[in-house]
Amino acid sequence: MAILKVARLGHPALRHKASDVEVKDIKAGKFQPLIDDMIETMHAYEGVGLAGPQVHLPLRIFVFEVEERVAKRRGIPQLGAGVFFNAVYEPDGDETITDWEGCLSVPFLGGEVPRYKRIKLRGVDHEGKGASIEVDSFTARIFQHEVDHTDGRVYLDRMPDLTTLGYTIVL
Ligand code: NI
Repeated sequence: MAILKVARLGHPALRHKASDVEVKDIKAGKFQPLIDDMIETMHAYEGVGLAGPQVHLPLRIFVFEVEERVAKRRGIPQLGAGVFFNAVYEPDGDETITDWEGCLSVPFLGGEVPRYKRIKLRGVDHEGKGASIEVDSFTARIFQHEVDHTDGRVYLDRMPDLTTLGYTIVL
Protein backbone atom coordinates (compact mmCIF):
# COMPACT_ATOMS: atom_id res chain seq x y z
CA MET A 1 0.00 0.00 0.00
CA ALA A 2 1.17 3.50 -0.70
CA ILE A 3 0.05 7.07 -0.30
CA LEU A 4 -0.25 8.55 -3.78
CA LYS A 5 0.74 12.03 -4.91
CA VAL A 6 -2.35 14.23 -5.21
CA ALA A 7 -2.51 16.70 -8.12
CA ARG A 8 -3.35 20.23 -7.03
CA LEU A 9 -5.38 22.86 -8.85
CA GLY A 10 -3.38 24.14 -11.81
CA HIS A 11 -2.06 20.72 -12.77
CA PRO A 12 -3.43 19.73 -16.21
CA ALA A 13 -4.18 16.19 -14.93
CA LEU A 14 -7.26 17.63 -13.22
CA ARG A 15 -8.64 19.13 -16.42
CA HIS A 16 -8.78 16.18 -18.81
CA LYS A 17 -11.84 14.02 -19.31
CA ALA A 18 -10.88 10.58 -18.06
CA SER A 19 -11.36 7.33 -20.00
CA ASP A 20 -13.51 4.37 -19.07
CA VAL A 21 -11.64 1.39 -17.68
CA GLU A 22 -11.96 -2.10 -19.17
CA VAL A 23 -14.44 -4.17 -17.19
CA LYS A 24 -12.42 -7.33 -17.85
CA ASP A 25 -9.48 -5.70 -16.08
CA ILE A 26 -11.68 -4.99 -13.03
CA LYS A 27 -12.89 -8.61 -13.06
CA ALA A 28 -9.28 -9.80 -13.27
CA GLY A 29 -8.49 -7.84 -10.10
CA LYS A 30 -6.00 -5.54 -11.82
CA PHE A 31 -7.35 -2.46 -10.05
CA GLN A 32 -7.35 -3.79 -6.50
CA PRO A 33 -3.87 -2.42 -5.63
CA LEU A 34 -4.92 0.99 -6.99
CA ILE A 35 -8.20 0.91 -5.05
CA ASP A 36 -6.28 0.11 -1.85
CA ASP A 37 -3.80 2.92 -2.49
CA MET A 38 -6.54 5.45 -3.30
CA ILE A 39 -8.43 4.59 -0.11
CA GLU A 40 -5.22 4.88 1.91
CA THR A 41 -4.48 8.24 0.25
CA MET A 42 -8.03 9.49 0.94
CA HIS A 43 -7.62 8.53 4.61
CA ALA A 44 -4.19 10.15 4.86
CA TYR A 45 -5.58 13.50 3.71
CA GLU A 46 -8.90 13.11 5.56
CA GLY A 47 -10.97 13.29 2.39
CA VAL A 48 -14.37 11.72 1.75
CA GLY A 49 -13.68 10.95 -1.91
CA LEU A 50 -10.81 10.69 -4.39
CA ALA A 51 -10.90 10.32 -8.18
CA GLY A 52 -8.40 8.95 -10.70
CA PRO A 53 -7.37 12.30 -12.22
CA GLN A 54 -6.48 13.53 -8.71
CA VAL A 55 -3.76 10.89 -8.53
CA HIS A 56 -2.55 11.56 -12.08
CA LEU A 57 -4.51 8.69 -13.65
CA PRO A 58 -6.83 9.64 -16.54
CA LEU A 59 -9.26 6.86 -15.62
CA ARG A 60 -12.91 6.93 -14.59
CA ILE A 61 -12.50 5.60 -11.07
CA PHE A 62 -13.32 7.09 -7.71
CA VAL A 63 -13.29 5.91 -4.12
CA PHE A 64 -15.33 7.25 -1.22
CA GLU A 65 -15.85 6.83 2.51
CA VAL A 66 -17.28 8.89 5.33
CA GLU A 67 -15.99 7.41 8.55
CA GLU A 68 -18.04 7.65 11.72
CA ARG A 69 -15.89 10.32 13.36
CA VAL A 70 -15.87 12.46 10.19
CA ALA A 71 -19.63 12.05 9.85
CA LYS A 72 -20.15 13.22 13.43
CA ARG A 73 -17.73 16.14 13.17
CA ARG A 74 -19.19 17.44 9.92
CA GLY A 75 -22.81 16.48 10.51
CA ILE A 76 -23.06 14.37 7.35
CA PRO A 77 -24.22 10.76 6.81
CA GLN A 78 -21.75 7.95 7.42
CA LEU A 79 -20.82 6.10 4.21
CA GLY A 80 -18.98 2.80 3.93
CA ALA A 81 -15.80 2.64 1.83
CA GLY A 82 -16.39 1.83 -1.81
CA VAL A 83 -15.39 2.37 -5.40
CA PHE A 84 -17.13 3.09 -8.67
CA PHE A 85 -15.72 2.76 -12.16
CA ASN A 86 -17.05 4.41 -15.33
CA ALA A 87 -19.68 6.28 -13.33
CA VAL A 88 -22.17 8.78 -14.71
CA TYR A 89 -25.14 10.33 -12.98
CA GLU A 90 -28.41 11.96 -13.80
CA PRO A 91 -30.51 14.12 -11.50
CA ASP A 92 -33.59 12.59 -9.92
CA GLY A 93 -35.73 15.72 -9.86
CA ASP A 94 -34.78 19.39 -10.16
CA GLU A 95 -34.22 20.10 -6.48
CA THR A 96 -30.79 21.39 -5.53
CA ILE A 97 -29.08 21.97 -2.20
CA THR A 98 -26.31 24.48 -1.62
CA ASP A 99 -23.71 23.31 0.90
CA TRP A 100 -20.06 23.62 1.70
CA GLU A 101 -17.45 21.59 -0.22
CA GLY A 102 -13.73 21.15 -0.14
CA CYS A 103 -11.35 19.12 -2.29
CA LEU A 104 -7.99 17.43 -1.71
CA SER A 105 -6.78 19.05 -4.94
CA VAL A 106 -7.70 22.50 -3.61
CA PRO A 107 -6.25 22.28 -0.10
CA PHE A 108 -7.24 24.57 2.76
CA LEU A 109 -10.15 26.11 0.84
CA GLY A 110 -13.87 25.56 0.80
CA GLY A 111 -16.94 27.13 -0.70
CA GLU A 112 -20.65 26.76 -1.23
CA VAL A 113 -21.73 24.67 -4.20
CA PRO A 114 -25.26 23.90 -5.42
CA ARG A 115 -25.75 20.21 -6.23
CA TYR A 116 -28.73 18.05 -7.12
CA LYS A 117 -30.39 16.75 -3.96
CA ARG A 118 -31.03 13.32 -5.47
CA ILE A 119 -29.23 11.51 -8.26
CA LYS A 120 -29.17 8.17 -9.99
CA LEU A 121 -25.62 6.96 -10.43
CA ARG A 122 -24.70 4.23 -12.87
CA GLY A 123 -21.29 2.61 -12.95
CA VAL A 124 -19.35 -0.57 -12.36
CA ASP A 125 -18.51 -1.94 -8.91
CA HIS A 126 -15.29 -3.45 -7.52
CA GLU A 127 -16.19 -6.87 -8.96
CA GLY A 128 -16.83 -5.54 -12.43
CA LYS A 129 -20.61 -5.76 -12.09
CA GLY A 130 -22.93 -3.05 -13.34
CA ALA A 131 -24.23 -0.98 -10.45
CA SER A 132 -27.04 1.53 -10.32
CA ILE A 133 -27.97 3.36 -7.12
CA GLU A 134 -30.11 6.25 -6.05
CA VAL A 135 -28.60 8.49 -3.39
CA ASP A 136 -29.43 11.82 -1.81
CA SER A 137 -28.13 14.53 0.51
CA PHE A 138 -24.37 14.65 1.17
CA THR A 139 -23.77 11.22 -0.40
CA ALA A 140 -25.24 12.54 -3.66
CA ARG A 141 -22.96 15.59 -3.28
CA ILE A 142 -19.85 13.43 -2.90
CA PHE A 143 -20.71 11.36 -5.96
CA GLN A 144 -21.44 14.45 -8.10
CA HIS A 145 -18.12 15.99 -7.00
CA GLU A 146 -16.17 12.82 -7.85
CA VAL A 147 -17.86 12.20 -11.22
CA ASP A 148 -17.03 15.83 -12.02
CA HIS A 149 -13.34 15.05 -11.40
CA THR A 150 -13.51 12.25 -13.97
CA ASP A 151 -14.96 14.80 -16.41
CA GLY A 152 -12.10 17.25 -15.76
CA ARG A 153 -14.12 19.57 -13.51
CA VAL A 154 -13.52 20.86 -10.00
CA TYR A 155 -16.10 22.25 -7.58
CA LEU A 156 -14.97 25.83 -8.19
CA ASP A 157 -16.45 25.51 -11.70
CA ARG A 158 -19.85 24.94 -10.08
CA MET A 159 -19.76 27.90 -7.70
CA PRO A 160 -22.17 30.68 -8.68
CA ASP A 161 -20.84 32.97 -5.94
CA LEU A 162 -17.10 33.06 -5.32
CA THR A 163 -17.57 35.31 -2.29
CA THR A 164 -18.31 32.13 -0.29
CA LEU A 165 -14.85 30.77 -1.14
CA GLY A 166 -12.50 30.90 1.81
CA TYR A 167 -9.87 29.21 3.90
CA THR A 168 -11.15 26.47 6.16
CA ILE A 169 -9.04 27.83 9.01
CA VAL A 170 -9.39 31.58 9.39
CA LEU A 171 -6.79 33.15 11.65
NI1 NI B 1 -12.27 16.86 -5.12
